[in-house]
Amino acid sequence: MAKILITGGAGYIGSHVLNLLGSEQSHEIIVVDNLSTGKKESLLYGRHEEFDICEVEKLSALMLVENFDACFHFAGSIIVPESVEKPLEYYENNTKNTYELIRLCVKHKIKNFIFSSTAAVYGDLEGGECFEDGPTVPINPYGRTKLMTEWMLEDVSRACGDDFNFIALRYFNVAGANVEGKIGQSSPNSTHLLKIACETACGKRDEMSVFGSDYETRDGSCVRDYIHIDDLAAAHIDGLKYLLKGGKSEIMNCGYGHGFTVKEVIASLKKVTSIDFKVVEGPRRAGDAAVLKSKADKIKSILGWTPKYDDLELIAKTAYDWEKSLK
Ligand SMILES: NC(=O)c1ccc[n+]([C@@H]2O[C@H](COP(=O)([O-])OP(=O)(O)OC[C@H]3O[C@@H](n4cnc5c(N)ncnc54)[C@H](O)[C@@H]3O)[C@@H](O)[C@H]2O)c1
Repeated sequence: MAKILITGGAGYIGSHVLNLLGSEQSHEIIVVDNLSTGKKESLLYGRHEEFDICEVEKLSALMLVENFDACFHFAGSIIVPESVEKPLEYYENNTKNTYELIRLCVKHKIKNFIFSSTAAVYGDLEGGECFEDGPTVPINPYGRTKLMTEWMLEDVSRACGDDFNFIALRYFNVAGANVEGKIGQSSPNSTHLLKIACETACGKRDEMSVFGSDYETRDGSCVRDYIHIDDLAAAHIDGLKYLLKGGKSEIMNCGYGHGFTVKEVIASLKKVTSIDFKVVEGPRRAGDAAVLKSKADKIKSILGWTPKYDDLELIAKTAYDWEKSLK
């Protein structure tokens, strides 16, 4: 039985990983989450320690007592436009706090680390297909904070040898809710397309916007690689198993490797809900690439990850059912 630390386990992604890991009943799990955006109700397994990971002494004391085998690190700030307005807050929560967390993991001999990275590290790539070995030129502070963490992890792993290995998963567009309806996305002020579309379908918003209809794509709107949250969660469990068996540090894309346009996602939600909610076409947003898709071979070959929910209508339906269930 491994002992696992999860930071940010009450959030959207952390809670789905916690659900999957907890249901295996083969690990002891402790979640550290300050509930700044996460919800206590999303914590279906494990013990919860409610504090901010910037409280380094508390974190260090917990690690000293618990002797963790691995750490999943989800705690972070994730809203791109906010990172442009308040860059120092993002460098503080995503870079400084993560630096302290990695430092403490090394100090307390927590040898396995799984990190939430993002496709935002790629920036606006020509052609839109993202390879792990290709250029990383993030175009906003959020993406830069994540790339800086990848660099820290690579350097620390190189210096520590087998005493510290990590998996960094570069998530593409995470969407949907747990297929059994147990949990979903509750984070406030989300900028995720499907979340906003579901809020509109549920009447929580009067209308929603499509930002740009003149891109060189099949219908003029941006193309993104949408991945179901339970498949993303499963990739983390695969990553944990790989590391616990002695696997070496790797950075991997986590997406399906194909994309849908913004208009296709909206049409799919309208189809599964039979609700014709109001959509307005607005101008392009600064910094939006026309196409972003993952090259997804590496994660499949190294972790043996086998996605089960690569189905846009299923993604849309689970997201909507969850949204409807929220008060
Ligand atoms: N959601 C996405 O589409 C997406 C895409 C790429 C990467 N990521 C990354 O995945 C991670 C999780 O994202 P999410 O969508 O679940 O976000 P979320 O906001 O739902 O979850 C973040 C969790 O971390 C907690 N938290 C934040 N700062 C903390 C701190 N200093 N101390 C303790 N707890 C803290 C919050 O309370 C929350 O429960 C983030 O690091 C994010 O950058 C998310």
